[in-house]
Amino acid sequence: MPIAERVLVHTPPKPYPVVIGPGIATELAALLDEVGFSRRRVIVSSPTVWRLHGETIRRGLPDAPVILIPDGERHKHLQTVGRVYDALVKAGADRSAGLIAVGGGVIGDTAGFAAATYLRGIAVAHVPTTLLAQVDSAIGGKVGVNHPLGKNLIGAFLQPRLVAADPLVLATLPRREFRAGLYEVVKYGMTSSRDLFDRVSGSVKALFRRQPDALVPIIAESSRIKADVVARDERERGPRRVLNFGHTAGHALEAVTRYKRFRHGEAIGYGMLVAAAVGVARGVLAPAARDALADLIRRLGPLPPIADLAVGDMLEAMRRDKKVVDGRLHYVLATDIGAHAIVDDVTERELAEALERVGFGR
Ligand SMILES: NC(=O)c1ccc[n+]([C@@H]2O[C@H](COP(=O)([O-])OP(=O)(O)OC[C@H]3O[C@@H](n4cnc5c(N)ncnc54)[C@H](O)[C@@H]3O)[C@@H](O)[C@H]2O)c1
Ligand SMILES: [Zn+2]
Repeated sequence: MPIAERVLVHTPPKPYPVVIGPGIATELAALLDEVGFSRRRVIVSSPTVWRLHGETIRRGLPDAPVILIPDGERHKHLQTVGRVYDALVKAGADRSAGLIAVGGGVIGDTAGFAAATYLRGIAVAHVPTTLLAQVDSAIGGKVGVNHPLGKNLIGAFLQPRLVAADPLVLATLPRREFRAGLYEVVKYGMTSSRDLFDRVSGSVKALFRRQPDALVPIIAESSRIKADVVARDERERGPRRVLNFGHTAGHALEAVTRYKRFRHGEAIGYGMLVAAAVGVARGVLAPAARDALADLIRRLGPLPPIADLAVGDMLEAMRRDKKVVDGRLHYVLATDIGAHAIVDDVTERELAEALERVGFGR
């Protein structure tokens, strides 16, 4: 087995490993055996991912049946989950079966939800193939699908038994998808780890070249941060909220553009700039730290334009946000590079000013 990093996620019923290593996608059988994963293994993937990486996965798991479902956000709904159920029933899968989700966040969330609900729950393992899935969605046990009237409205919690993140599979990821994942890495750095922030900043070129020696440490450090937060707060009642840094304005931006203009991570890029502007205006974040964030976001690549989007529409979308609890918006502020505070007294006026400063229109 090639050299791999391991991060343990301490959640009930028992801790599970996130294994990060170049080439581990060919070693899945050994990793699954090690965690005592079901022997009745069923792979769920998408035609795109399977065309690119099926052969690699097959080397370790030659006999597992494969269920292919379409990926892309517009297929993340209950009908797609239904297709997984159909295939499981036809294959005679019983409670001892275990699903192995091979794909981006859409496949992980959809297959994970199928696993959480089929026969009231079977085991799942994640083999995330996008950077976003490797550093974020595969870890933490949130699974689910969209409802026609809103994103991620239908879901469950199901912690995986194993997450196997192979940076080599990222070689085929379109540049824009890759960049979108990097913004989430920047989020972890900005809120929780100056080391990580500096590392991304110092290896932008190597990262875009998808060099495993550059990728492994940032995936591992991001996983550690997410694992730590998830272990302290499995159901997102308190500390897990830190993961929402940049997501208040980010989610609003996705909503006002009907999920068409931005990849999620790109919207978070702007959301972090808005949060930094709020922080500077409040005097809790030094302008130099905000500038370092803005500079890194700029260096990671062009973000789609926002000048045609109105501050008022953004505020309207934020009012409907899931992060509003009992009428109060829980808002994550960066207080330095690698440090944060969660507050619930950010006013609309502050948000409006920050949105304007970042470049939203009137
Ligand atoms: N469960 C969670 O905690 C959590 C956290 C964050 C995001 N999410 C969810 O994750 C989803 C987004 O995930 P995503 O960004 O991975 O998008 P995605 O799953 O839609 O994948 C993006 C695109 O990349 C392609 N792709 C995947 N792997 C590839 C590879 N190795 N090479 C080439 N192409 C590849 C896919 O076919 C797809 O077209 C959203 O639905 C979001 O709600 C969930
Ligand atoms: Zn996110």
